[in-house]
Amino acid sequence: MKMTNYKELNEQLKSLIEGVPYRTANLANAAALLWQELEDLNWAGFYLKRDGALVLGPFQGKPACIRIPWGRGVCGTAAAEGKTQRVENVHDFPGHIACDCASNAEIVVPLFHRGEVMAVLDLDSPSFARFTAGDQEGLEAFARTLEAAWESMD
Ligand code: SME
Repeated sequence: MKMTNYKELNEQLKSLIEGVPYRTANLANAAALLWQELEDLNWAGFYLKRDGALVLGPFQGKPACIRIPWGRGVCGTAAAEGKTQRVENVHDFPGHIACDCASNAEIVVPLFHRGEVMAVLDLDSPSFARFTAGDQEGLEAFARTLEAAWESMD
C-alpha cells in the first residue's frame, strides 16, 4: 500500500479551501480529497456537533448513521474525550456503531473551535490496523488546517 504524503495532502487542502467561506463546501471537498488520495478506505467524512450529539456531515462512502450520541461509538468517544481514536479492530471497540459492515479499522480525529470539540473527522477501512501512527499525525495536521479556517466559514 502506498503511504500517503500528508504534507502534500495538507497543501492541497489549503489551496482547496483558501478564501472559500462555505463550511459545507469545504468539508465536502476535504472528504473528497481524502477519498481520492488515501488507499484502502470504505468511508471518509465528518460528523458535526448539533444539539449535544454528532450529526452526519459531508462524506464519501455508503450512506451512514445520521445521529451519534456524544460518548457513543468511536466517533462519540473521540468527541467526548477530545482525543483521536485509532482503532485497529472495530469489533473489539465497546459500543462501536457499525454503519458499513465492511469496516474493520477506524480512525476518528476531533476538531476543536474555541477549545471545544465541534466536529470529528472519521475514516473507515476494510483492513484491520489500516491506520498507523503516521496516518494519525497526518490526519491531525489535516484537522488543524480545517480548524484554522473554521471561523471564516459559514
Ligand atoms: N463507526 C462509527 C460510526 C460512524 S461510521 O463509521 C461512518 C462509530 O462507531 O462511531
